[in-house]
Amino acid sequence: MNTPTPGDAQALLREAQEIAQLGNTEFFVPDNGVNYWSPQVYRMLGIEPGDSPSHLRIFQGVHPEDRDRCLMAWSRAIRGTGRLDLSYRFVRADGTVRHIDARYRLSRAPGGALRVVGTLHDVTERKTAEEAARRAQARLADLGRLATLGEIAAALSHELNQPLSAIVNYARACERLLDAPRPEVPEVKAALGEISSQAMRAGEIIHRLRGMVRHRDTYRTVVAVNDLVRDILTLLEMDTHASGCTLQLDLATDLPLVLVDGVQIQQVIVNLVHNAAEALLGTGEPGGEIVIRTARDDDGEIVVSVADNGPGLAPGAEARVFEPFFTTKVEGTGLGLAISRSILELHHSQLAYGANTPRGARFTFTLPVAPELS
Ligand SMILES: Nc1ncnc2c1ncn2[C@@H]1O[C@H](COP(=O)(O)OP(=O)(O)O)[C@@H](O)[C@H]1O
Ligand SMILES: [Mg+2]
Repeated sequence: MNTPTPGDAQALLREAQEIAQLGNTEFFVPDNGVNYWSPQVYRMLGIEPGDSPSHLRIFQGVHPEDRDRCLMAWSRAIRGTGRLDLSYRFVRADGTVRHIDARYRLSRAPGGALRVVGTLHDVTERKTAEEAARRAQARLADLGRLATLGEIAAALSHELNQPLSAIVNYARACERLLDAPRPEVPEVKAALGEISSQAMRAGEIIHRLRGMVRHRDTYRTVVAVNDLVRDILTLLEMDTHASGCTLQLDLATDLPLVLVDGVQIQQVIVNLVHNAAEALLGTGEPGGEIVIRTARDDDGEIVVSVADNGPGLAPGAEARVFEPFFTTKVEGTGLGLAISRSILELHHSQLAYGANTPRGARFTFTLPVAPELS
């Protein structure tokens, strides 16, 4: 086998960059004109090969909705050295949009300028697939929720119909009896007795249905809470990405295992992150941040919290947010927090709200540590 000549190595690298849709770049801040773009950067951004590379040129092509965020990240990053990872949409001259994942390393060049080397990765195909998957999933989730609610409503009306019509009949009988010139008191009393026992029956039916809703499919296993969070990370990031905010994990190490229904606990976390993302989106401001934290409290229990730097709860809302059907959103169901609270009650835990500092909302719950098996 022959060792490749340097010329071959160059050609191989170019080919590899093309296959991976990956380009690389080097530039300086302040701009000293010594900029480099690999051929793939030109292709990716739809820029003529003869054009001279400039980072301002890239910046001008960044999608208007992503520009403020990128500018803020850059102005923060160039104050020091280190790494900067950025995802943004780039609008080519012909109007087509590409999703770019950029990674930069910033260091001091001799003479004091900032040297930036970076890679640009075109992830448009992956993003489009993710977006399609997210939409399909959201539709499925909606369908699932509607089916459950619809089924509960159908079962309720079917079962309640009988005692309710009995109540109406007995009430009419009472009226007739009382209209008589000399009402028969014992007969009226008997009809009233029937009314109250039928009303009790209706109450029992509601109670039983509530139990069914709350206890369906509980399946507890011994798991690591951090794994539960990591397993749904992609799903959560789709949510936060769509709202233009960032998601951070602050997961304690060496946590003991918990005994929980993992899927249900994940459902709670998804609900909380979803609410936080919606609250941040509602502010219309950049810089939204959601933090999922796991820790161990003084009693040895595991504490999970989801915090955001959005507007937080309105003063009057605090007492009502856990009520079913309480919502401040046009398209809200008002069920997210109510369901989350029921799930946690089944785990002998409580969902609590507290204001986040300096601003925003923080929802916290604890989980029971699994008994040691030895
Ligand atoms: N992180 C949050 N920041 C601000 N308000 C929140 C947050 N989470 C929940 N809320 C408030 O609680 C209400 C109820 O939430 P939820 O039960 O999930 O129902 P929905 O999201 O359908 O409105 C929301 O409409 C919102 O007003
Ligand atoms: Mg919600």
